[in-house]
Amino acid sequence: MPRKIAVKEKKTKEEIIEEEMMEGAEEITKRDKENGEISIEDLPGIGPKGAQKLKEAGYEDLMSIAATSSGELAAVCEIGELTAEKIIAAARAKLDMGFKTAAEVMERREEIGKISTGSESLNNLLGGGVETQTITEFYGAFASGKSQIAFQLAVNVQLPKEKGGINGACLFIDTEATFRPERIREIAEGRGLDPKKVLQNIYVARAFNSDHQVVLSEKAKDIIKEKNIKLIVVDSLTAHFRADYSGRGELAPRQQKLNRHIHALQRLADIYNLAVVVTNQVMANPGLMFGDPTTAIGGHIVAHATGMRLYLRKSKGDTRIARLIDSPYLPEGEAVFKVGPKGISD
Ligand SMILES: Nc1ncnc2c1ncn2[C@@H]1O[C@H](COP(=O)(O)OP(=O)(O)O)[C@@H](O)[C@H]1O
Ligand SMILES: [Mg+2]
Repeated sequence: MPRKIAVKEKKTKEEIIEEEMMEGAEEITKRDKENGEISIEDLPGIGPKGAQKLKEAGYEDLMSIAATSSGELAAVCEIGELTAEKIIAAARAKLDMGFKTAAEVMERREEIGKISTGSESLNNLLGGGVETQTITEFYGAFASGKSQIAFQLAVNVQLPKEKGGINGACLFIDTEATFRPERIREIAEGRGLDPKKVLQNIYVARAFNSDHQVVLSEKAKDIIKEKNIKLIVVDSLTAHFRADYSGRGELAPRQQKLNRHIHALQRLADIYNLAVVVTNQVMANPGLMFGDPTTAIGGHIVAHATGMRLYLRKSKGDTRIARLIDSPYLPEGEAVFKVGPKGISD
């Protein structure tokens, strides 16, 4: 057999980049996919440098790669179109882009846990309590009870099932600096719980701006696994976004980032079977002549991405009214509950 004689002397720029992207690929692909979550690093033929390059080019996860075209990926990453095609095909293969039977979906839904809000009527409105695998949004004016519900849930998630909990810990993302451990202690004591233990099971992260908030949600998975987090609270979801993107013409980037944030939260809810509770402020809706002229911040992005939306409003004294606005399977309705020293009750 004749020996293959000297191939090409010089590598093209594309070939150099492609080789760099593949460097160290094997050791990475051996990594176990944990909990079904697969990242760019898990693509066959992509090494750490390759993953880095893809991320720098704006491809943060497999879905963004799966959804792109080979021409675009090739251009952005400066690689050959053939290689780009292979990367896209690999991303599509890794992602579960197929169909599931309704029976399989049902099976997954049977794993849903419910956290008691402390009020039977509010629980009934929610179909039993705040659900895992779902984002539940409480929106309303100042002092309508949003944070108090969040505090109560942070305590109740820790209870055993027969007492309305799911035996988990809470990750509390505080964006308005309104988290008060003293209040948690008071609520815990009100239920006859050991306040010290309850406080030890709430992991508080203060988000300083919208970027920080997004990073916290995207980096949460380590602590979720380590500490058995079953509830993530984001109080409030939108305040930083509203402050950081207040100018005209900033709506589009704000909504994009908010979208990314909410989807990161939804992914965590799905993968780890945990509940996500977000609070949201309201603004006057000038287009509305009659009725309650308040609309939740965040527009369609928030409205569509949250599974359950409840609008809270103040009534007499310590009484509050919650209205279920949007549920995929529950009827609209209202519940009356109270915010007292011991927390939420009927
Ligand atoms: N220790 C407490 N005892 C009784 N009621 C309280 C206590 N702390 C807060 N509240 C009630 O909760 C209200 C504030 O609700 P909160 O959930 O913090 O408002 P927001 O909707 O702005 O987050 C207060 O106006 C008060 O009625
Ligand atoms: Mg609040």
